[in-house]
Amino acid sequence: MSAMAEAWRARHPGHDVRLAQALGDPAEIDVAVCWFPPPGVLASLPRLRLIQSVGAGIEHLLHDPLLPRHLPAFRIIDPQMAEGMAAYVSWAVISAQRGMSRYTEAQRAGLWATAEVEPPRQHRVGILGLGALGLNCARTLSALGYRVVGWSRSAKPDLPAAVEGFVGAAQLPAFLGRCDSLVCLLPLTAQTHGMLDAALFAQLPVGAHLINVGRGDHLVEADLLAALSSGQLGLATLDTFSVEPLPAGHAFWGHPQVRITPHVATRTPLDVIAAQLLENLQGLSHDTPSARQVNWARGY
Ligand code: NAP
Ligand code: GLV
Repeated sequence: MSAMAEAWRARHPGHDVRLAQALGDPAEIDVAVCWFPPPGVLASLPRLRLIQSVGAGIEHLLHDPLLPRHLPAFRIIDPQMAEGMAAYVSWAVISAQRGMSRYTEAQRAGLWATAEVEPPRQHRVGILGLGALGLNCARTLSALGYRVVGWSRSAKPDLPAAVEGFVGAAQLPAFLGRCDSLVCLLPLTAQTHGMLDAALFAQLPVGAHLINVGRGDHLVEADLLAALSSGQLGLATLDTFSVEPLPAGHAFWGHPQVRITPHVATRTPLDVIAAQLLENLQGLSHDTPSARQVNWARGY
């Protein structure tokens, strides 16, 4: 956070930005901008009016057992972030569906080796979570010609015509049966924790590709390793992990069917955090409802 604070001060000299380790007088703090807030710090700020997550997710805030949940908390919803995620997910789907790694290997060996070209429309992509990020991925992949299905808690009346929506636990099995690639873009909640498990993998087409850009704790790691060994899954592209950085020696590092990126699928630009924070603060003063406000009861 210190690099972020420095950059923030440089770009917004009017803001009094303080790090958790050097807050000064706690009674001077109005707003907390957090990823993992040190436990207890937020509860110790008597004037605190607003909690701002630096990302789209908010479950990391809950690691603080004393989190003042009576205060409004906001997450980031931003088109640039959604574009970054759609670009990452498109890379993950396309590179695997077109078998691009074999051309990299062939080039290294000086070989001109062609393979069948399977058109996108023969490949089905399912997206768990049709929120700010998932919906944009659905649109992008559908525009590229992939057959896209999506799953959410509530029905989505405004889906693009080519994207079929599935809703709730009852429709999950039908959804999963249509996912050659499965993208997890769910928030981490009590309902979604550990849902990428053996029972879910068994409902995917044999050899499916799992792309987890949600959170590491959506995934039961041992079940993924077993599903890759048995052939039930063919490949996993993982951007998020239960423990980050992924520990040295972890089975995922050298696994031939696992592709790892270090939680970089997308990022929130600093200026966006600053601008949304100010808007959120003003909205509070005017009692304006915001889609960015966290619903603690729902968990996201
Ligand atoms: P969002 O707008 O809140 O969307 C969440 C979606 O998940 C919604 O469609 C929601 O359904 C659905 N959902 C939630 N709980 C569900 C359940 N129990 N059953 C079925 N559907 C459920 O969130 P977002 O902005 O798209 O972000 C999604 C997640 O992406 C974040 O929470 C974070 O974990 C992850 N993320 C990762 C990165 C990265 O770099 N890897 C970056 C940013 C975010 P409704 O529409 O019906 O509410
Ligand atoms: C990143 O993972 C975020 O939640 O924005």
